[in-house]
Amino acid sequence: MDLFEYQARDLFESHGVPVLAGAVATTPDQAYEAAKSMGGKVVVKAQVKVGGRGKAGGVKLAVDAEDAKEKAAAILGMDIKGHTVHKVMIAQAAPIVSEYYLAILLDRANRDFLVMASVAGGMEIEEVAHTSPEKLARISIDPNFGVTAEAAAKVIAGGQFPADIAPQVTEVLFKLWAAFVAEDATLMEINPLVKTEDGRIVALDGKVTLDDNASFRHASHEALIDHAATNPLEALAKEKDLNYVKLDGEVGVIGNGAGLVMSTLDVVAYAGEKYGVKPANFLDIGGGASAEVMANGLSIILGDTDVKSVFVNVFGGITACDAVANGIVAALAILGDAATKPIVVRLDGNNVLEGRRILNEAAHPLIEQLDTMDGAAARAAELAAK
Ligand SMILES: Nc1ncnc2c1ncn2[C@@H]1O[C@H](COP(=O)(O)OP(=O)(O)O)[C@@H](O)[C@H]1O
Ligand SMILES: [Mg+2]
Repeated sequence: MDLFEYQARDLFESHGVPVLAGAVATTPDQAYEAAKSMGGKVVVKAQVKVGGRGKAGGVKLAVDAEDAKEKAAAILGMDIKGHTVHKVMIAQAAPIVSEYYLAILLDRANRDFLVMASVAGGMEIEEVAHTSPEKLARISIDPNFGVTAEAAAKVIAGGQFPADIAPQVTEVLFKLWAAFVAEDATLMEINPLVKTEDGRIVALDGKVTLDDNASFRHASHEALIDHAATNPLEALAKEKDLNYVKLDGEVGVIGNGAGLVMSTLDVVAYAGEKYGVKPANFLDIGGGASAEVMANGLSIILGDTDVKSVFVNVFGGITACDAVANGIVAALAILGDAATKPIVVRLDGNNVLEGRRILNEAAHPLIEQLDTMDGAAARAAELAAK
C-alpha cells in the first residue's frame, strides 16, 4: 500500500525522522484554520499518490492563512496525472538552502535493500539519475546487518554530502532505516530532504510503500487505507479472504492456484484477441474450493458489470474435481437468479471424470463444459463477445 504524503509525514514523525508541522484539509476553510494555527508562511500541497506534484502546480507557497485558503481552493479538485485532489496538506514553509535525496527500498533483484542518496535532490532527481548517475549513490544494505555505521559512511561519501551536515544526514538515515524495518516498508523516500537557513536537516516530502503481506502484524496500518479509492469488488474479495484483482476486460476468470490463474489470464488474452475481449480479473480460490468459496468467488465476478462470460479453470489436486463440481453446483443454487452470465468450466486432474459427470447431470443452463484449457478459453472469449 502506498501512503499519502501526510501519512508518510506522520509516520516519519513517530519514528523521529525530522519533519515540519503539517495538517490535512479537505476544504479551503479547513486549510485557512490549519494555516492560521500554524502561523507564518505555509505550503499548500495536493495529496495525490503520484509524483511530480510540484511541476504540475500542486504545491504552492502561501504567505498567510487567507492566501492558503485561496491556494487550497485552486488545488482542491485539480487533476494531477489522472488523480483528482480531494485533500491538501498545509505544511509549514521551510527556508530552504539545499535540496537532497535519500531513499531506502527493497531491491528484489539483488535480494537485499538499497539506499539511494544524492546532494542533487529536489524535483529534478529523475533527470539527475538519467544524465549524471554518478551523482546518485546506490549502496546495497545486507539485511542481516542493516544500515551500519560503515554503510552510512558510504552513503555520505557516495551521495557527496558536505562534512558540516554529514552527522545530521547520518542520523536521519539511521532513523529512516529503523522506521523502514519497524513498519515493514518496501520503500521510504525523502525528496527533498533539505538543509534550512538555520542549518537543520528536515524531510519535506515523503513517499512510503508498506508491505501488505506484513499487514497482519500492524494493526495501525488499517487506518491508513484509502477506502474511497479501493475498488468495491476488491474490498469485498478481501473481506471474503479471496485473492482477487480487477482487470479491465470482459471474461471473468476463476481458478485454483495463483500459477494456474496467471496462465489462464494469458490463454484468455490470447484467445480473446480474435474477439476483442480480455480477462476481467484475477481470482484464485486456492486449494480447498468448497461450495461456499466457489459461491463467494462467482458472486464477486458476476457482480462485475464488465463481465460478459466466466471461465472456471480448475485442476483437481488435494481437492478433487468431484468436490469442485459439487461446489459449482451448490454455488449456483446459492446464487439462484443472481447468476445470469454463461459459465464455461474446464475440469482436469484428480477425479476429473466424476467431476464432469456431476456437472453434466446437474445440466445447469448457464454451464458449458470443455475438456481443454485452450478450448474453454476460446469458448469463454466467444461468449463474452456475443
Ligand atoms: N514545506 C515546504 N516548504 C518549502 N518548500 C517546499 C515545502 N514542501 C515542498 N516544497 C518545495 O516544493 C517542491 C516540490 O514539493 P514535493 O513535496 O517534493 O512534491 P513533488 O515531489 O510531488 O513535486 C520541493 O522540491 C520543494 O522545493
Ligand atoms: Mg518530492
